[in-house]
Amino acid sequence: MFSLKQNVSLKPYNTFGIDVKANFFADIYSVDDLMKLFTNSAIEGKKLLILGGGSNMLFTEDFDGVVVKLSIPGINYTTQGDEIIVTAGAGVVWNDLVTFCVNNGFAGLENLTLIPGTVGASPIQNIGAYGVELKDVFLSCEAFEIATLKTKMFSFEDCKFGYRDSVFKNDLKGKYIITQVSFRLTKIANLQTHYGAITAELTNRNIITPNIADVSAVVAAIRVSKLPDPSTIGNAGSFFKNPVITEAQFQELIQKFPDVVNYPVQNGVKLAAGWLIEQCGFKGKVVGNTGTWKNQALVLVNHGNASGQEVYSFSEQIINSVHTKFGVMLEREVNIL
Ligand code: FAD
Ligand code: EPU
Repeated sequence: MFSLKQNVSLKPYNTFGIDVKANFFADIYSVDDLMKLFTNSAIEGKKLLILGGGSNMLFTEDFDGVVVKLSIPGINYTTQGDEIIVTAGAGVVWNDLVTFCVNNGFAGLENLTLIPGTVGASPIQNIGAYGVELKDVFLSCEAFEIATLKTKMFSFEDCKFGYRDSVFKNDLKGKYIITQVSFRLTKIANLQTHYGAITAELTNRNIITPNIADVSAVVAAIRVSKLPDPSTIGNAGSFFKNPVITEAQFQELIQKFPDVVNYPVQNGVKLAAGWLIEQCGFKGKVVGNTGTWKNQALVLVNHGNASGQEVYSFSEQIINSVHTKFGVMLEREVNIL
Protein backbone atom coordinates (compact mmCIF):
# COMPACT_ATOMS: atom_id res chain seq x y z
CA MET A 1 0.00 0.00 0.00
CA PHE A 2 1.32 3.43 -1.00
CA SER A 3 2.59 5.70 1.76
CA LEU A 4 4.77 8.78 1.92
CA LYS A 5 7.50 8.41 4.55
CA GLN A 6 9.76 11.16 5.84
CA ASN A 7 13.43 11.30 6.79
CA VAL A 8 14.35 7.87 5.45
CA SER A 9 17.88 6.39 5.37
CA LEU A 10 18.77 5.28 1.82
CA LYS A 11 21.43 2.81 2.99
CA PRO A 12 19.25 -0.27 2.29
CA TYR A 13 18.29 1.17 -1.08
CA ASN A 14 21.70 1.47 -2.78
CA THR A 15 24.16 -1.35 -3.49
CA PHE A 16 27.14 0.87 -2.59
CA GLY A 17 25.68 0.88 0.93
CA ILE A 18 26.13 4.65 1.33
CA ASP A 19 24.30 6.09 4.31
CA VAL A 20 22.44 9.25 3.27
CA LYS A 21 18.90 10.41 4.05
CA ALA A 22 15.95 11.47 1.91
CA ASN A 23 13.33 14.00 3.05
CA PHE A 24 10.49 12.01 1.52
CA PHE A 25 10.25 8.42 0.33
CA ALA A 26 7.35 6.80 -1.55
CA ASP A 27 7.17 3.10 -2.40
CA ILE A 28 5.14 2.77 -5.61
CA TYR A 29 3.16 -0.39 -6.44
CA SER A 30 0.99 0.79 -9.34
CA VAL A 31 0.31 3.62 -11.80
CA ASP A 32 -2.52 4.56 -9.45
CA ASP A 33 0.06 5.11 -6.68
CA LEU A 34 1.97 7.46 -9.00
CA MET A 35 -1.25 9.44 -9.55
CA LYS A 36 -1.77 9.67 -5.78
CA LEU A 37 1.81 10.76 -5.21
CA PHE A 38 1.90 13.45 -7.87
CA THR A 39 -1.43 14.94 -6.83
CA ASN A 40 -0.30 15.14 -3.19
CA SER A 41 0.36 18.78 -2.27
CA ALA A 42 3.04 17.75 0.27
CA ILE A 43 5.48 17.02 -2.56
CA GLU A 44 4.67 19.95 -4.84
CA GLY A 45 7.79 21.62 -6.26
CA LYS A 46 10.13 19.11 -4.61
CA LYS A 47 13.09 17.51 -6.39
CA LEU A 48 12.52 13.91 -7.50
CA LEU A 49 14.71 10.84 -7.58
CA ILE A 50 13.36 7.79 -9.38
CA LEU A 51 14.83 4.69 -7.80
CA GLY A 52 14.83 1.00 -8.69
CA GLY A 53 17.32 -1.25 -6.91
CA GLY A 54 19.89 1.52 -6.45
CA SER A 55 22.55 -0.62 -8.16
CA ASN A 56 23.78 2.09 -10.51
CA MET A 57 23.86 5.00 -8.06
CA LEU A 58 26.39 6.80 -5.93
CA PHE A 59 24.87 9.03 -3.25
CA THR A 60 27.24 11.83 -2.26
CA GLU A 61 24.88 13.81 0.00
CA ASP A 62 21.46 13.74 1.65
CA PHE A 63 18.61 14.07 -0.83
CA ASP A 64 16.44 17.10 -0.26
CA GLY A 65 13.40 15.87 -2.16
CA VAL A 66 11.21 12.82 -2.85
CA VAL A 67 12.61 9.38 -3.61
CA VAL A 68 10.13 7.53 -5.82
CA LYS A 69 10.95 3.84 -5.37
CA LEU A 70 9.43 1.63 -8.08
CA SER A 71 8.02 -1.63 -6.69
CA ILE A 72 5.38 -2.38 -9.35
CA PRO A 73 5.11 -6.21 -9.44
CA GLY A 74 3.98 -8.79 -11.99
CA ILE A 75 5.22 -10.94 -14.86
CA ASN A 76 2.79 -11.89 -17.67
CA TYR A 77 3.27 -13.41 -21.10
CA THR A 78 1.49 -14.26 -24.32
CA THR A 79 2.60 -16.79 -26.90
CA GLN A 80 2.31 -16.57 -30.66
CA GLY A 81 3.87 -19.55 -32.38
CA ASP A 82 7.51 -19.62 -31.32
CA GLU A 83 7.44 -16.04 -30.11
CA ILE A 84 6.72 -15.06 -26.51
CA ILE A 85 5.96 -11.53 -25.42
CA VAL A 86 6.83 -11.15 -21.75
CA THR A 87 5.73 -8.06 -19.83
CA ALA A 88 7.06 -7.26 -16.36
CA GLY A 89 6.35 -4.53 -13.83
CA ALA A 90 9.07 -1.93 -13.21
CA GLY A 91 9.68 -3.20 -9.69
CA VAL A 92 10.35 -6.81 -10.66
CA VAL A 93 13.92 -7.77 -9.74
CA TRP A 94 15.74 -8.15 -13.05
CA ASN A 95 17.24 -11.53 -12.22
CA ASP A 96 13.84 -12.88 -11.09
CA LEU A 97 12.58 -12.14 -14.59
CA VAL A 98 15.62 -13.84 -16.14
CA THR A 99 15.11 -16.91 -13.93
CA PHE A 100 11.40 -17.04 -14.80
CA CYS A 101 12.23 -16.97 -18.52
CA VAL A 102 15.08 -19.50 -18.31
CA ASN A 103 12.89 -21.91 -16.29
CA ASN A 104 10.11 -21.63 -18.86
CA GLY A 105 12.46 -22.13 -21.82
CA PHE A 106 11.98 -18.57 -23.11
CA ALA A 107 15.23 -17.58 -24.80
CA GLY A 108 16.78 -14.12 -25.03
CA LEU A 109 17.63 -12.96 -21.50
CA GLU A 110 20.07 -15.73 -20.47
CA ASN A 111 23.24 -13.69 -21.14
CA LEU A 112 21.86 -10.98 -18.85
CA THR A 113 21.70 -13.35 -15.86
CA LEU A 114 22.56 -11.88 -12.44
CA ILE A 115 22.62 -8.20 -13.47
CA PRO A 116 21.37 -6.47 -10.32
CA GLY A 117 18.49 -3.99 -10.26
CA THR A 118 14.96 -3.82 -11.55
CA VAL A 119 13.10 -4.30 -14.83
CA GLY A 120 12.07 -0.61 -14.84
CA ALA A 121 15.69 0.58 -14.93
CA SER A 122 16.79 -1.88 -17.61
CA PRO A 123 16.01 0.40 -20.60
CA ILE A 124 17.57 3.49 -18.96
CA GLN A 125 21.15 2.49 -19.74
CA ASN A 126 20.24 -0.37 -22.11
CA ILE A 127 21.81 -2.93 -19.78
CA GLY A 128 24.22 -5.33 -21.39
CA ALA A 129 26.56 -8.21 -20.70
CA TYR A 130 28.33 -11.05 -22.45
CA GLY A 131 27.47 -10.06 -26.01
CA VAL A 132 23.78 -9.15 -25.49
CA GLU A 133 22.09 -5.84 -24.73
CA LEU A 134 18.54 -5.14 -23.61
CA LYS A 135 17.84 -3.59 -27.04
CA ASP A 136 18.23 -7.05 -28.63
CA VAL A 137 15.07 -8.29 -26.88
CA PHE A 138 13.22 -5.05 -26.10
CA LEU A 139 9.73 -4.66 -27.59
CA SER A 140 8.28 -1.61 -25.79
CA CYS A 141 7.84 0.06 -22.43
CA GLU A 142 5.11 1.98 -20.69
CA ALA A 143 6.11 5.18 -18.90
CA PHE A 144 4.35 7.75 -16.74
CA GLU A 145 4.92 11.35 -17.78
CA ILE A 146 5.44 13.45 -14.65
CA ALA A 147 4.30 16.73 -16.25
CA THR A 148 0.97 15.40 -17.58
CA LEU A 149 0.30 12.43 -15.24
CA LYS A 150 -0.40 10.32 -18.34
CA THR A 151 1.14 7.04 -19.43
CA LYS A 152 2.72 6.63 -22.84
CA MET A 153 4.06 3.64 -24.77
CA PHE A 154 7.64 3.82 -26.09
CA SER A 155 8.66 1.68 -29.06
CA PHE A 156 12.16 0.41 -29.77
CA GLU A 157 12.79 3.38 -32.11
CA ASP A 158 11.51 5.88 -29.51
CA CYS A 159 14.09 4.70 -26.97
CA LYS A 160 17.19 5.52 -29.11
CA PHE A 161 19.30 2.85 -27.46
CA GLY A 162 23.09 3.04 -27.57
CA TYR A 163 25.94 1.56 -25.55
CA ARG A 164 24.83 2.15 -21.92
CA ASP A 165 22.53 4.84 -23.29
CA SER A 166 18.91 5.68 -24.20
CA VAL A 167 16.61 8.65 -24.72
CA PHE A 168 15.79 8.46 -20.99
CA LYS A 169 19.36 9.55 -20.15
CA ASN A 170 19.27 12.38 -22.68
CA ASP A 171 16.31 14.37 -24.12
CA LEU A 172 13.80 12.78 -21.72
CA LYS A 173 15.98 12.71 -18.61
CA GLY A 174 13.85 13.07 -15.47
CA LYS A 175 10.59 13.41 -17.43
CA TYR A 176 9.23 9.83 -17.41
CA ILE A 177 8.93 6.99 -14.95
CA ILE A 178 9.02 3.55 -16.59
CA THR A 179 6.17 1.45 -15.21
CA GLN A 180 6.48 -1.77 -17.23
CA VAL A 181 8.64 -3.28 -19.97
CA SER A 182 7.79 -5.84 -22.69
CA PHE A 183 10.33 -8.20 -24.22
CA ARG A 184 10.21 -10.24 -27.42
CA LEU A 185 11.58 -13.68 -26.59
CA THR A 186 11.54 -16.98 -28.44
CA LYS A 187 11.17 -20.70 -27.82
CA ILE A 188 13.77 -21.40 -30.50
CA ALA A 189 16.99 -20.32 -28.84
CA ASN A 190 19.59 -18.46 -30.87
CA LEU A 191 22.21 -18.71 -28.16
CA GLN A 192 24.96 -16.08 -28.04
CA THR A 193 28.07 -17.88 -26.86
CA HIS A 194 30.70 -15.99 -28.86
CA TYR A 195 31.94 -13.92 -25.88
CA GLY A 196 35.36 -15.39 -25.02
CA ALA A 197 34.69 -16.12 -21.38
CA ILE A 198 31.45 -18.01 -22.21
CA THR A 199 33.14 -20.20 -24.81
CA ALA A 200 35.96 -20.99 -22.39
CA GLU A 201 33.61 -21.86 -19.49
CA LEU A 202 31.40 -24.08 -21.70
CA THR A 203 34.50 -25.98 -22.86
CA ASN A 204 35.65 -26.21 -19.26
CA ARG A 205 32.32 -27.87 -18.40
CA ASN A 206 32.44 -30.17 -21.46
CA ILE A 207 29.20 -28.69 -22.79
CA ILE A 208 29.15 -28.99 -26.57
CA THR A 209 25.49 -28.22 -27.31
CA PRO A 210 24.43 -25.76 -24.63
CA ASN A 211 20.81 -24.93 -23.82
CA ILE A 212 19.36 -21.74 -22.33
CA ALA A 213 19.91 -22.92 -18.76
CA ASP A 214 23.56 -23.83 -19.51
CA VAL A 215 24.31 -20.35 -20.87
CA SER A 216 22.59 -18.75 -17.89
CA ALA A 217 24.57 -20.92 -15.43
CA VAL A 218 27.86 -20.20 -17.19
CA VAL A 219 27.24 -16.44 -17.23
CA ALA A 220 26.35 -16.58 -13.51
CA ALA A 221 29.59 -18.43 -12.73
CA ILE A 222 31.74 -15.95 -14.70
CA ARG A 223 30.09 -12.99 -13.01
CA VAL A 224 30.51 -14.44 -9.51
CA SER A 225 34.23 -15.03 -10.19
CA LYS A 226 34.84 -11.45 -11.36
CA LEU A 227 32.42 -9.14 -9.60
CA PRO A 228 31.98 -8.43 -5.90
CA ASP A 229 28.61 -9.37 -4.39
CA PRO A 230 26.96 -6.12 -3.21
CA SER A 231 25.43 -7.93 -0.22
CA THR A 232 28.94 -8.36 1.20
CA ILE A 233 30.93 -5.53 -0.42
CA GLY A 234 29.28 -2.34 -1.59
CA ASN A 235 29.63 -1.51 -5.29
CA ALA A 236 27.65 -0.48 -8.37
CA GLY A 237 29.27 -2.70 -11.02
CA SER A 238 31.41 -0.94 -13.64
CA PHE A 239 31.95 2.57 -12.35
CA PHE A 240 32.98 3.90 -15.77
CA LYS A 241 31.92 3.13 -19.34
CA ASN A 242 34.39 1.52 -21.70
CA PRO A 243 35.58 4.56 -23.72
CA VAL A 244 35.08 4.66 -27.47
CA ILE A 245 37.81 6.55 -29.36
CA THR A 246 38.29 7.32 -33.06
CA GLU A 247 40.32 5.05 -35.32
CA ALA A 248 42.96 7.83 -35.66
CA GLN A 249 43.30 8.20 -31.86
CA PHE A 250 43.53 4.44 -31.59
CA GLN A 251 46.37 4.21 -34.13
CA GLU A 252 48.34 6.71 -32.06
CA LEU A 253 47.62 4.87 -28.82
CA ILE A 254 48.55 1.42 -30.08
CA GLN A 255 51.96 2.71 -31.22
CA LYS A 256 52.75 3.55 -27.60
CA PHE A 257 50.78 0.74 -25.94
CA PRO A 258 50.75 -2.33 -28.21
CA ASP A 259 48.88 -4.43 -25.60
CA VAL A 260 45.92 -2.06 -25.24
CA VAL A 261 42.74 -4.19 -24.97
CA ASN A 262 40.37 -3.05 -27.72
CA TYR A 263 37.28 -4.00 -29.69
CA PRO A 264 36.35 -2.46 -33.05
CA VAL A 265 32.85 -0.90 -32.92
CA GLN A 266 30.68 0.93 -35.47
CA ASN A 267 31.84 4.43 -34.54
CA GLY A 268 35.50 3.76 -33.68
CA VAL A 269 37.35 1.55 -31.23
CA LYS A 270 36.17 0.60 -27.75
CA LEU A 271 38.86 0.24 -25.07
CA ALA A 272 38.63 -1.88 -21.93
CA ALA A 273 38.50 0.72 -19.16
CA GLY A 274 39.45 -2.01 -16.66
CA TRP A 275 42.73 -2.51 -18.51
CA LEU A 276 43.49 1.23 -18.63
CA ILE A 277 42.80 1.53 -14.89
CA GLU A 278 44.87 -1.54 -14.06
CA GLN A 279 47.81 -0.17 -16.09
CA CYS A 280 47.71 2.96 -13.91
CA GLY A 281 48.32 0.74 -10.88
CA PHE A 282 44.84 0.90 -9.38
CA LYS A 283 43.74 -2.74 -9.51
CA GLY A 284 42.89 -3.96 -6.01
CA LYS A 285 44.15 -0.68 -4.53
CA VAL A 286 42.65 0.33 -1.16
CA VAL A 287 42.42 4.05 -0.38
CA GLY A 288 40.80 4.71 2.99
CA ASN A 289 37.37 3.09 2.92
CA THR A 290 37.23 2.78 -0.83
CA GLY A 291 39.23 1.22 -3.66
CA THR A 292 38.95 -0.94 -6.76
CA TRP A 293 38.01 -4.61 -6.80
CA LYS A 294 40.89 -7.08 -6.78
CA ASN A 295 39.54 -9.04 -9.77
CA GLN A 296 38.12 -6.11 -11.78
CA ALA A 297 39.68 -2.66 -11.69
CA LEU A 298 36.59 -1.10 -13.31
CA VAL A 299 34.55 -1.76 -10.16
CA LEU A 300 34.91 0.70 -7.27
CA VAL A 301 34.03 -0.67 -3.87
CA ASN A 302 33.00 0.42 -0.40
CA HIS A 303 35.19 -1.40 2.12
CA GLY A 304 32.80 -0.59 4.94
CA ASN A 305 32.12 2.96 5.88
CA ALA A 306 32.96 4.93 2.76
CA SER A 307 31.10 8.14 2.13
CA GLY A 308 29.85 8.90 -1.37
CA GLN A 309 32.27 11.86 -1.48
CA GLU A 310 35.20 9.57 -0.74
CA VAL A 311 34.27 7.21 -3.58
CA TYR A 312 33.66 10.15 -5.90
CA SER A 313 37.08 11.73 -5.12
CA PHE A 314 38.76 8.39 -5.74
CA SER A 315 36.99 8.16 -9.11
CA GLU A 316 38.40 11.63 -9.95
CA GLN A 317 41.90 10.36 -9.19
CA ILE A 318 41.37 7.43 -11.55
CA ILE A 319 40.04 9.67 -14.33
CA ASN A 320 43.06 11.97 -13.98
CA SER A 321 45.61 9.13 -13.96
CA VAL A 322 44.10 7.43 -17.02
CA HIS A 323 43.97 10.74 -18.84
CA THR A 324 47.58 11.58 -18.01
CA LYS A 325 48.89 8.16 -19.10
CA PHE A 326 46.70 7.43 -22.12
CA GLY A 327 45.08 10.75 -23.11
CA VAL A 328 41.68 9.05 -22.78
CA MET A 329 38.83 10.55 -20.71
CA LEU A 330 36.80 8.04 -18.74
CA GLU A 331 33.10 8.78 -18.33
CA ARG A 332 31.21 7.57 -15.28
CA GLU A 333 28.52 4.96 -15.88
CA VAL A 334 27.19 5.23 -12.33
CA ASN A 335 24.64 7.99 -11.66
CA ILE A 336 26.00 10.51 -9.15
CA LEU A 337 23.66 12.24 -6.78
P1 FAD B 1 18.87 2.38 -10.06
O1 FAD B 1 20.31 2.29 -9.70
O2 FAD B 1 17.89 2.48 -8.98
O3 FAD B 1 18.69 3.59 -11.08
C1 FAD B 1 19.54 3.74 -12.19
C2 FAD B 1 19.04 4.93 -13.04
O4 FAD B 1 17.78 4.63 -13.63
C3 FAD B 1 18.82 6.21 -12.23
O5 FAD B 1 19.09 7.31 -13.06
C4 FAD B 1 17.33 6.16 -11.90
O6 FAD B 1 16.78 7.46 -11.67
C5 FAD B 1 16.78 5.53 -13.15
N1 FAD B 1 15.57 4.70 -12.95
C6 FAD B 1 15.48 3.59 -12.20
N2 FAD B 1 14.26 3.05 -12.33
C7 FAD B 1 13.57 3.83 -13.16
C8 FAD B 1 12.25 3.81 -13.69
N3 FAD B 1 11.39 2.84 -13.38
N4 FAD B 1 11.86 4.81 -14.53
C9 FAD B 1 12.71 5.81 -14.86
N5 FAD B 1 13.98 5.88 -14.39
C10 FAD B 1 14.40 4.90 -13.57
N6 FAD B 1 24.79 -2.98 -15.69
C11 FAD B 1 24.89 -3.48 -16.95
O7 FAD B 1 24.38 -2.88 -17.91
N7 FAD B 1 25.54 -4.65 -17.18
C12 FAD B 1 26.13 -5.37 -16.20
O8 FAD B 1 26.71 -6.42 -16.44
C13 FAD B 1 26.04 -4.87 -14.86
N8 FAD B 1 26.60 -5.53 -13.84
C14 FAD B 1 26.51 -5.02 -12.57
C15 FAD B 1 27.09 -5.77 -11.51
C16 FAD B 1 26.99 -5.31 -10.21
C17 FAD B 1 27.61 -6.12 -9.10
C18 FAD B 1 26.26 -4.11 -9.94
C19 FAD B 1 26.10 -3.65 -8.52
C20 FAD B 1 25.70 -3.38 -10.97
C21 FAD B 1 25.82 -3.83 -12.30
N9 FAD B 1 25.26 -3.12 -13.38
C22 FAD B 1 25.34 -3.64 -14.66
C23 FAD B 1 24.59 -1.83 -13.16
C24 FAD B 1 23.11 -1.97 -12.75
O9 FAD B 1 22.82 -3.27 -12.34
C25 FAD B 1 22.17 -1.61 -13.90
O10 FAD B 1 22.41 -0.28 -14.34
C26 FAD B 1 20.69 -1.71 -13.51
O11 FAD B 1 19.87 -1.61 -14.63
C27 FAD B 1 20.28 -0.65 -12.48
O12 FAD B 1 19.01 -1.00 -12.02
P2 FAD B 1 18.41 -0.38 -10.70
O13 FAD B 1 16.99 -0.81 -10.60
O14 FAD B 1 19.27 -0.73 -9.54
O15 FAD B 1 18.50 1.17 -11.04
N1 EPU C 1 40.60 -5.99 -17.93
C1 EPU C 1 41.85 -5.81 -17.36
N2 EPU C 1 41.91 -5.53 -16.02
C2 EPU C 1 40.82 -5.43 -15.24
C3 EPU C 1 39.54 -5.61 -15.82
C4 EPU C 1 39.46 -5.89 -17.18
O1 EPU C 1 42.87 -5.89 -18.02
O2 EPU C 1 40.97 -5.18 -14.04
C5 EPU C 1 40.52 -6.28 -19.36
C6 EPU C 1 40.69 -7.77 -19.66
O3 EPU C 1 41.51 -7.92 -20.78
C7 EPU C 1 39.31 -8.23 -20.06
C8 EPU C 1 38.70 -6.96 -20.63
O4 EPU C 1 39.30 -5.90 -19.88
O5 EPU C 1 39.34 -9.26 -20.98
C9 EPU C 1 37.19 -6.88 -20.47
O6 EPU C 1 36.84 -7.19 -19.14
P1 EPU C 1 35.44 -7.86 -18.78
O7 EPU C 1 35.17 -9.01 -19.68
O8 EPU C 1 35.42 -8.09 -17.31
O9 EPU C 1 34.40 -6.75 -19.18
P2 EPU C 1 34.40 -5.17 -18.99
O10 EPU C 1 34.60 -4.56 -20.32
O11 EPU C 1 35.31 -4.75 -17.91
C10 EPU C 1 31.86 -4.96 -19.48
C11 EPU C 1 30.68 -4.26 -18.89
C12 EPU C 1 30.13 -5.08 -17.73
C13 EPU C 1 29.68 -6.44 -18.26
C14 EPU C 1 30.91 -7.14 -18.87
C15 EPU C 1 30.57 -8.44 -19.54
C16 EPU C 1 30.95 -1.89 -19.24
C17 EPU C 1 31.28 -0.58 -18.65
N3 EPU C 1 31.05 -2.94 -18.44
O12 EPU C 1 32.89 -4.95 -18.51
O13 EPU C 1 28.98 -4.40 -17.23
O14 EPU C 1 29.16 -7.24 -17.24
O15 EPU C 1 31.50 -6.26 -19.89
O16 EPU C 1 29.89 -8.22 -20.72
O17 EPU C 1 30.60 -1.96 -20.42
C18 EPU C 1 28.26 -2.75 -15.66
O18 EPU C 1 27.89 -2.09 -16.64
O19 EPU C 1 28.10 -2.38 -14.49
C19 EPU C 1 28.94 -4.03 -15.90
C20 EPU C 1 29.43 -4.80 -14.93
